[in-house]
Amino acid sequence: MGRVQGKVALVTGGASGIGLSTAMLLAKEGAKVVIGDYNIDAAKEAAQEIKNQGFEATAVFLDASKEESIKEAVEFTVKEYGTITILYNNVGLTNLKKDLDVVNIDLDEWDRLMNVNVKSVLLGSRFAIPHMIKAGGGSIINTASMAAFASDSIRSAYGASKAAVVQLTKYIATQYGKDNIRCNGVAPGLILTPAAKNNLSQPLLDIFMKYNALPYHGEADDIGNTVLFLASDESKFITGQTIQVEGGHYLANPTAPDFNAMAAQAQAAQSK
Ligand SMILES: NC(=O)c1ccc[n+]([C@@H]2O[C@H](COP(=O)([O-])OP(=O)(O)OC[C@H]3O[C@@H](n4cnc5c(N)ncnc54)[C@H](O)[C@@H]3O)[C@@H](O)[C@H]2O)c1
Repeated sequence: MGRVQGKVALVTGGASGIGLSTAMLLAKEGAKVVIGDYNIDAAKEAAQEIKNQGFEATAVFLDASKEESIKEAVEFTVKEYGTITILYNNVGLTNLKKDLDVVNIDLDEWDRLMNVNVKSVLLGSRFAIPHMIKAGGGSIINTASMAAFASDSIRSAYGASKAAVVQLTKYIATQYGKDNIRCNGVAPGLILTPAAKNNLSQPLLDIFMKYNALPYHGEADDIGNTVLFLASDESKFITGQTIQVEGGHYLANPTAPDFNAMAAQAQAAQSK
């Protein structure tokens, strides 16, 4: 018996990276999985790969920037597998060139990121919840980011959008808890998806590693396994929470390295 046996999941942005890992894990643990992505060829390939391994999956075109498309993907899921009991709102965009500091940010980019990163979570939930109520309950999981909790010199829209996802998660959990619908989030730190591996230079990866409490980077399955837990009944008393999966990157007081250096200096001076 799988950990999500008999449940029906829609995974948005499921054709690659974190979404793909999660789709695979959910299917292996007994869920029927619909991979929703605007890269429909990659989504179909991923569904076929899951089927080749003996599990159940199919693909649907989903453009997370368009209300109608999200609605159609939810309806497709219900038509294909009879219901929807897991919704993983995972699509999220970032843009290092246009999403800058508050003075210089491109305002169209602000609107685009808010639309795709936040409104798609609202819409996916809005269309799935009536079906979940009919099914007697469900689990909604949203991908936030550590950018929701720690700010940066650029990516103002991304950070604000992911903070909105964290808060929206609590609102959904509050509003539909009595319908046996749970809503939780996962906030990844740096995760070495294929896209991240291609885009990040070794010096940049070294900077990330320097501040991790753990001696390795995060991988897509680290998020996938967290989502699997939140989708399963193992987490049945957890709702409204966003779990930070970031290797302890943001764990220490930021002054800790300075205090360490100061202590080392004092020790060196004493031993002279
Ligand atoms: N990778 C990281 O380090 C990291 C860190 C923090 C948060 N996140 C968040 O995790 C989520 C997944 O990120 P990832 O790194 O796996 O991304 P990815 O780029 O590897 O995959 C994203 C998938 O979403 C699809 N997609 C993009 N825009 C879409 C749209 N408008 N409609 C439908 N599909 C769309 C892409 O085709 C792709 O298959 C995002 O919400 C991202 O913000 C990632």
